[in-house]
Amino acid sequence: MSMIPDEIIEQVRDTADIVGIIGESVELKRTGSDYRAPCPFHGGTHRNFAVIPKKGRYYCFVCHESGDVFSWLMKRFGMDYPTAVRDVARRCGITIPERPGRTGPDPLEPLFGAVAAAHDWFTRQLLELAEAKIAREYLEGRNVPIETAALYGLGFAPAGSGFLGAMATLGLKDEALLEAGLTLRRDDGSIVPRFRGRLLFPIHDLRGRVVGFGGRLLGPGEPKYLNSPETPIFHKGRQLYNLHQAKSAIRKEETVILVEGYFDVLRLVLAGIEHVVAPLGTALTSDQAALLKRYAPSATLLYDSDRAGLRATFRAGDELLRQGMRVRVATLPAGEDPDTLVRAGGAAALEPIVRDAVDVLERKIQLLERKGWFDSVEHQRAALDRLIPTIRAAADPITRELYLKIVSERSGVSREVLQQQVAAKSAFQSEGAGTARRRRSAGPGLPEPRPRLDPTERSLLRVLVKGGEWLTRAIAQVPAEWFETASLREIYEAMRRSPERTGTQIFLEQLSEEARKAWTVLNDHEPQYGTPDPDQTYVDCVRTLQARPLARELTRLARRNRQVSSAEYESLVSEKKRLNQEISTLSPEELIKRHIRRGDLDAR
Ligand code: GTP
Ligand code: MN
Repeated sequence: MSMIPDEIIEQVRDTADIVGIIGESVELKRTGSDYRAPCPFHGGTHRNFAVIPKKGRYYCFVCHESGDVFSWLMKRFGMDYPTAVRDVARRCGITIPERPGRTGPDPLEPLFGAVAAAHDWFTRQLLELAEAKIAREYLEGRNVPIETAALYGLGFAPAGSGFLGAMATLGLKDEALLEAGLTLRRDDGSIVPRFRGRLLFPIHDLRGRVVGFGGRLLGPGEPKYLNSPETPIFHKGRQLYNLHQAKSAIRKEETVILVEGYFDVLRLVLAGIEHVVAPLGTALTSDQAALLKRYAPSATLLYDSDRAGLRATFRAGDELLRQGMRVRVATLPAGEDPDTLVRAGGAAALEPIVRDAVDVLERKIQLLERKGWFDSVEHQRAALDRLIPTIRAAADPITRELYLKIVSERSGVSREVLQQQVAAKSAFQSEGAGTARRRRSAGPGLPEPRPRLDPTERSLLRVLVKGGEWLTRAIAQVPAEWFETASLREIYEAMRRSPERTGTQIFLEQLSEEARKAWTVLNDHEPQYGTPDPDQTYVDCVRTLQARPLARELTRLARRNRQVSSAEYESLVSEKKRLNQEISTLSPEELIKRHIRRGDLDAR
């Protein structure tokens, strides 16, 4: 990554014509010293989006998006930071020296070199070494022709220390071999090869470079599989087996098949099914799920049907849902794995199983129903405890809506109560492991992070706490469910119950601890850009909340644009136009009605 000196970044920011750059894609109107437009971020209709040239920043009074000219390009056009800086620099005629920090060779090069040399040697051993006969026969026995194995880069690591001699002859340094995870240093200081007497599956990074190996024992023993350790180039939690080969097939199919093991991948690929990957001997991580999301909007989990397989299935399912993917579960006959099934029956045997895959939540419900979990109240409660995390995991708003609806129907628990349960934890944890990690890194002794409150909901409540006319209007117009931040919804509900008590001691005592914290945040607000007209804020916030589900649908469509053919693109664009139209013209009542209808359609 190139480093651009801070002074140059400052200079570019100061010189940039932010009005001109934003004005290229948004129609700005001058008001005093600022410029105004309908906000392109939340798709507002009033001119709440301000560009303030004096500060070199933009800001939306309703959705609170704000930033400078660089974040504008990053958020609106998907540029990364250095690209945005360079883009603006070019426009103001400032030259940024190309990659000044990058002198000398890539420090990781010796590791890639060591692994590549080792891989080369391992594949040759598999084909030629007398000792590798056991591996060749093993493959034969599993119906993997040796030529195919070679084609897919499989290798053999002999039991002795031949590897060390071979690497030394090639001039590879001990340090590089150790760091690449190819050798181990014993307690007595001696160095031995990591892989001994194993069949090796090469693991590639996205650019197709070998970065590590998964090694299978050929006889009984432990562990059955030994993987390369974490190294600067091999990350079990962030890479996936076969993704480098499968990625274009995954894009083309718009979906990915996830299996558990190396042999499963190999078997499917040999049968002509290319859009298949496997994790690297661990449960699917959120990073791996995020990686898959870059290539496809949906996934099919094809794991063993035993207990362990099911547990891994639902864990992986939740990770994928958290990335906003659609997730289906394919069910293999008991005792089979994808390898044995396809080996016996070819791709044709797998086809109906993948075709009949059911949505991951449906699959959970099926299994719970089969075990009679919906028969008694006590069991039902436990069943809900298992379903709620999956509803909560669903980041795609439409999927989540459907999940709420389905679970509510099956269990007889009202949607509202379910939704509260779902929101109960997620408002403060927010989705995903990313946030959790950031939280944790705050460390002990540091002030607790501020609760994450939805900015529109927060702005609306700020107007409502002033009481009077606005609160009365809200009580008639704004249902509590529109608040998705649990703590803010709780405050709003308390205000609705007894408007005249808002802010009093009794009022505060009614609130949960979370809600009280949110109340503090709500009230210690320092307006950064002057105070907007409360009347206008009220109207805009209400409209934004109303249109939120539709706006999300728009975002989803926008995201899909990047993954579709140009033929489909046309229809997406027109559907987007239609939705935009709908958001800006429909009355609140119509919006809500239209919504319900959409939900019904999707559920069918
Ligand atoms: P076969 O048993 O040869 O069919 O291999 P498989 O790939 O089907 O293995 P299995 O279904 O037992 O396990 C699935 C995946 O989990 C493997 O491909 C490995 O990545 C991983 N795995 C299995 N056993 C071990 C082990 O003992 N250690 C480690 N680190 N990973 C394992
Ligand atoms: Mn297997």
